Amino acid sequence: MTSSIDNTLINVTVTRRDDQTDEIAVFELAAADGSVLPAFEAGAHIDVVVAPELIRQYSLSNAPGETTYRLGILNDPNSRGGSRQIHAELQAGAQVQVSAPRNHFPLEMDAEHSLLIGGGIGITPMIAMAYALKAADKSFELHYCSRSESKAAFLDELKREFGDRLVLHFDDAGEESRIDPKALAEARPESHLYVCGPSGFMDWVIAQGKAAGLPEKQIHFEYFSADVDISGEAFEVYAEASDVTVQVGPNESIATALKAAGVKVQMSCEEGVCGTCICDVIEGTPDHRDHFLTDEEKEDNDQIALCCSRAKSSRLVVDI
Ligand code: FES
Repeated sequence: MTSSIDNTLINVTVTRRDDQTDEIAVFELAAADGSVLPAFEAGAHIDVVVAPELIRQYSLSNAPGETTYRLGILNDPNSRGGSRQIHAELQAGAQVQVSAPRNHFPLEMDAEHSLLIGGGIGITPMIAMAYALKAADKSFELHYCSRSESKAAFLDELKREFGDRLVLHFDDAGEESRIDPKALAEARPESHLYVCGPSGFMDWVIAQGKAAGLPEKQIHFEYFSADVDISGEAFEVYAEASDVTVQVGPNESIATALKAAGVKVQMSCEEGVCGTCICDVIEGTPDHRDHFLTDEEKEDNDQIALCCSRAKSSRLVVDI
């Protein structure tokens, strides 16, 4: 498998837990042995090993340069178990394993202006970005969209740190509180737009940015989770490095078929958002279903997310 993922895990201690709303808890993590944690950039996330077979990604929300990692985690009733278990078990003093930070959502520091838009818990990477832009004295706006003020975390800090560069949008505050990403992008067409949040919200913001005429390279996003449809016609996959051929059934993923045949496939989110299962395509045409690869990368057809994507051709050859 050609994607390079650093699997070294770091033991960390929860040095602080702050339940900021009835659904969002903020966790501060420090190296358990007192050493310095690997540095991170704005937009980076870490994997948290919630249980041996349960690994979840969370964005780092503190200022790059700090020596701790800070996570804001929503206790999501629709989660597949990760956030619920963290909320139930991760108290101050607990130890947990995490990966080194990875950044699939980097900031373009040379942008003339940055529009940072966080929906719900999607505010977390935006906070790190706002800190980085503020430290570099760059022009930016931070928009925080939440159902209501009582559901929004980090508010005191954001007001204190970012002043009038922070714009709050609460659903229950009426029409004039609503965000209009198209108007924001039209007002500053040189902007780079960053969005993170629930997938429907993100789809809408991205579409609005495109409708405003922002080129794709100025629109940046990171999905937390997504509904992926893995169904389709059956096809064949040859895993070249393993010398294994499998048939992928109509409701089966490539990863499931490969694993059943004994091929080791690294996965994490299993819904096309984290990039852990990305693999090179040697032959054939993928039918991309993931939210990780960019449109340009998808057009190249030389990589595939094994957890969810399928094939347009009757056979794929992949490098695993
Ligand atoms: Fe996350 Fe496939 S496992 S994208």
